[in-house]
Amino acid sequence: MTDTDITTTAGTDWAAWQQSWDRQQEWYMPDREERFRIMLDMVEALVGPAPRVLDLACGTGSITARLFARFPGATSTGVDLDPALLAIAEGTFADDDRVSFVTADLKDPDWRAKLPYDSYDAVLTRSAR
Ligand SMILES: C[S@@+](CC[C@H](N)C(=O)[O-])C[C@H]1O[C@@H](n2cnc3c(N)ncnc32)[C@H](O)[C@@H]1O
Repeated sequence: MTDTDITTTAGTDWAAWQQSWDRQQEWYMPDREERFRIMLDMVEALVGPAPRVLDLACGTGSITARLFARFPGATSTGVDLDPALLAIAEGTFADDDRVSFVTADLKDPDWRAKLPYDSYDAVLTRSAR
């Protein structure tokens, strides 16, 4: 193995991975952004502009990204089981202490034990499959 064979995440273009994921998901669901917007409208109406959110089946953290863009005072926990998507999420939000990501299978009856908080203001998800 040479130095150039070493795999590293340093310098990875996480924004490009996010854009690639968004493009792929929008092919399946063209009104995805509108759904995100309505979700956050509901959150703001019900619990205000600084919610603690549980982003279930978070994938790359798409909901959390929209949440922070709109509500900078929000906090989030993302839960997913896919290591590749979680790597993109963790890379994207590496320096952001408003969010943490949890690897868990929602089919496991004990998945909630892995969460950092006992309660959330809102539980958001978009297509958990
Ligand atoms: C279509 S993607 C949606 C991701 C993200 N919410 C978004 O809008 O881009 C579905 C996600 O559900 C996750 N998922 C499916 N089954 C799951 C399970 N049993 N436990 C945790 N995550 C699961 C997948 O890993 C994937 O990230």
